[in-house]
Amino acid sequence: MIILLLGSGGREHALAWKMAQSPRLTKLFAAPGNPGIAEHAECIDLDPTHIESVVAFARDENVGLVVIGPEAPLVAGLADRLREDGVLTFGPDRAAAQLEGSKGFTKDLCARENIPTAGYGRFTDLAAAQGALDRFGLPVVIKADGLAAGKGVVIAQNRAEADAALVDMFGGGFGSAGAEVVIEQFLTGEEASFFALTDGTTVVPFGSAQDHKRVGDDDTGPNTGGMGAYSPATILTPALEAQVMAEIVEPTVRAMAAAGMPYSGVLYAGLMLTPTGPQLIEYNARFGDPECQVLMMRLEDDLIDVLLAVAEGRLAEIARPRLAPQTALTVVMAARGYPGTPEKGGAINGIAAAEHEGAKIFHAGTAQTASGLVANGGRVLNVSAMAPTIGEARQIAYDAVDRLDFASGFCRRDIGWREMARLRND
Ligand code: AMP
Ligand code: GLY
Repeated sequence: MIILLLGSGGREHALAWKMAQSPRLTKLFAAPGNPGIAEHAECIDLDPTHIESVVAFARDENVGLVVIGPEAPLVAGLADRLREDGVLTFGPDRAAAQLEGSKGFTKDLCARENIPTAGYGRFTDLAAAQGALDRFGLPVVIKADGLAAGKGVVIAQNRAEADAALVDMFGGGFGSAGAEVVIEQFLTGEEASFFALTDGTTVVPFGSAQDHKRVGDDDTGPNTGGMGAYSPATILTPALEAQVMAEIVEPTVRAMAAAGMPYSGVLYAGLMLTPTGPQLIEYNARFGDPECQVLMMRLEDDLIDVLLAVAEGRLAEIARPRLAPQTALTVVMAARGYPGTPEKGGAINGIAAAEHEGAKIFHAGTAQTASGLVANGGRVLNVSAMAPTIGEARQIAYDAVDRLDFASGFCRRDIGWREMARLRND
């Protein structure tokens, strides 16, 4: 089968690496891809958000399955157009991708279906939003409704911060994403990510993970796209996972189908494990990055079989996807300056030598130049390992980090700390 993979990050490198292990794959194209993905795919210079170019490429090259990595093409309606042309696609249609593309849409769905989530209000003008602030107490959470590359959420500790966030969002600080704003009650608890695959009707769990959003050790400094992850997150016990499926994920999939917007793809639920039970913080319509990397390390099945079953609406017919009982962990190496302006062009050497003891290094933001491999983005490499315990996986991953020669790179040194602390206290 000829497959086209869209995206260029570590998430897509992990997907490419896993698909390349399948005997079903005859040819992998990646658009635009990266130097790591290029080990498994022919990278083509195509922008995934240029919908008609992607559709034409898929048709001309007889692509049998398109796998959409990032959210922007989903929210723009790429999957709809591909399906219209009869191209099998992994990823939801535009209407279904609203679960990620509009926070207000998701909150309204939760309210209708009694899905546990923070109390909220939707606002389209500043005065009304300011007038409602007192209802929410402090801290209060203020979100741009649309896609804002993970930056559209402000947790305001006092009224002045809340006012400033509202003024910024309605003033265009997040472009059209902030034309509507959601104000939410602040939830407390530990965060965890839960993944489910669905073809619109059947839903199966696809593992848990915990991300590390802040740039610095001990969860300090500004938010990032994610500085590391591990899977499974044992705080999501089997009983809690069953509760999340029954109270959050399954009602969502049913409601989307009933509303004529069946959701097909991977549904990523960001959860807050509150003292009164799991609550939905947000949905993403795609795999997480770097959470996908740890899920792919653990996946024991042929990824193409799984993705095809989702895309063809046959999820009920295949065995449940199996994830290894081991723990996988990934450490993000970022370029100095991230999440501000990252330093580009820093030399990277020693990847092959660092991949010892089963460590696997996924490329996230790299470029191949005449003088060798260099950093070309904020998050640059994902140094990943899997082992029977998180302690061993972490040791292998950090050994690999230390063997790498990437002088302008940095990483957090405490990935997995919550899980390590849990184990110590058991
Ligand atoms: P989101 O982009 O919606 O995932 O929000 C980004 C981050 O903001 C989340 O990972 C949480 O850490 C935090 N957050 C979002 N909503 C809430 C909430 N209602 N209560 C507490 N923290 C929140
Ligand atoms: N790592 C967070 C995300 O992919 O949204």
